[in-house]
Amino acid sequence: MICRSRLSQVLILLACLVPSLTLAASPEATYGANGMVTSRSALASEVGVEVLRDGGNAVDAAVATAFALAVTYPSAGNIGGGGFAVIRLPDGKVVTLDHREKAPLSAHRDMYLDEAGEVIRGLSTSSHKAAGVPGSVDGLLLLLETHGTMSRKRLMAPAIRLARNGFALDFDLARQFRRRLPSMEAYPASIAKFSDDGKAFEAGDRWRQPDLARTLARIFGKGRAGFYEGPVAEKIVAEMESGGGDITRADLAQYRSVWRDPVRGTYRGHEIWSMGPPSSGGVLLVQILNMLEPFNLAELGWGSAATVHLMVEAERRAYADRAEHLGDPDYYAVPQAALTDKAYASRRFSDFDPDRVAASDAIGPGDTNLPTESRETTHFSVMDGGGMMVAFTTTLNSGYGNKIVVPGTGILLNNEMNDFSIRRDTPNQFDLIGRDANAIEPGKRMLSSMTPTIVTKDAEPLLITGSPGGSTIITTTLQVIVNVIDHGMGIDDAVAAPRFHHQWKPDTVIHESRALSPDTKALLEEKGHSFREARFGRGIGDANSILFRDGVMHGAKDPRAQGGAVGY
Ligand code: DON
Repeated sequence: MICRSRLSQVLILLACLVPSLTLAASPEATYGANGMVTSRSALASEVGVEVLRDGGNAVDAAVATAFALAVTYPSAGNIGGGGFAVIRLPDGKVVTLDHREKAPLSAHRDMYLDEAGEVIRGLSTSSHKAAGVPGSVDGLLLLLETHGTMSRKRLMAPAIRLARNGFALDFDLARQFRRRLPSMEAYPASIAKFSDDGKAFEAGDRWRQPDLARTLARIFGKGRAGFYEGPVAEKIVAEMESGGGDITRADLAQYRSVWRDPVRGTYRGHEIWSMGPPSSGGVLLVQILNMLEPFNLAELGWGSAATVHLMVEAERRAYADRAEHLGDPDYYAVPQAALTDKAYASRRFSDFDPDRVAASDAIGPGDTNLPTESRETTHFSVMDGGGMMVAFTTTLNSGYGNKIVVPGTGILLNNEMNDFSIRRDTPNQFDLIGRDANAIEPGKRMLSSMTPTIVTKDAEPLLITGSPGGSTIITTTLQVIVNVIDHGMGIDDAVAAPRFHHQWKPDTVIHESRALSPDTKALLEEKGHSFREARFGRGIGDANSILFRDGVMHGAKDPRAQGGAVGY
């Protein structure tokens, strides 16, 4: 007790001395008028807001935040993975950048199958072969060149400093490292990075990443060539050669991010701007909203059986379409216009029965089990005082990717190849199934569910949102939007409200413990629904969001995980 009160006195003293520390330490909603960053790492949000304070725009802040996340949130922040950015420019135009990983040039459809055509366990998730060609560095630098205003040096310096000088590990990170060490045993460079000479770090220990600091400094000095060519690229290729991986010099040299048209929808007088293929996120989000629009969700009420039934039935149909129609548009003709058309949604939902579930088997084939992997990706939102907005979602796929650190670089590699359909109708780690549209091909991008999204009203900024959570990313993003637009919630309630999810297969409503009251559940059971409580202690998603109303930015750090909403 005494210790605790002494500790709190010290904390209060510290908070007075360093005002920004109090903001960063708070997981609660934060207000700002000039700029705001909400992310999974308070340190990274601070880095982004400092850039805004120095006169940078939202893209400058997003680039600095993303590089900082690669240092302070290594589970999903990365330079060895990939992601998507949706950006509203000050003139109201919305652009999106795809820096998703690509399959190596030697990849082929059956690369994860044995001679009998059976899936080789772990090969697409926990091996050198699990890694796609990383896109983050190319993406961040292109973003900066195209829409940023500050120098690479200014924006990368904080990340380099955090890596070189280190920072005190909090309980959350120390626990993550301790839990992950056994899965890294085969990789000495991973053990060296995430432990204190083989011994688990404790909260409060200073964590330094000198190799990563050098790699970041090389990128700052040489631009994309600092990663995709020269000594860093050589080390990645050497690690691939020694570990049986597929990424070559040519793969690295050829990687380029792509500007893509946003997916655009409308919902009750709002404009929805989200990520198109190779993410399925935007298309499914718009498709589900289109199916819901004719119904008065506000009147039916948040959490009522009628509302949950409607949302689940719309989700079931959209995810069935995902398995058949969604993939990399550079390789497969995704019927995007049709899928996001309101007339299509109305036809697709015409067999909706308010009293009964539709059988998933009647909608499409496939059978699956429930997810077993943890869910680690990360989403952050940035807004500046000039109306520029950035929704940014990035990932290594699983937490800590394939767990392999490339020796001498500090770079943790992704295991994104598992997002391909590694065999027709065979579930990936998120139980998503796919077919030809998402089959493996050389140089192709694997289908994603990441859904960084911006909502405007009469072309003016309203909401920035998105989430991690594998297949649940899309429905988490959907629920934040519906909570704001239909249920009139403020951003803290919209983000905190308990969530549920349905993805066609498995034919089960996955839900957080408080999402469905006993009587709601009983009514849904009568309609034929079955349930599974989300088994991940921290719930579904981590939707770090910003709502802009009456000239005020209102940032919410999702209470399900640590991080910081910082505004000024
Ligand atoms: O791109 C995707 O959809 C997946 N690689 C995302 C993985 C994920 O969200 C994991 N955890 N939260």
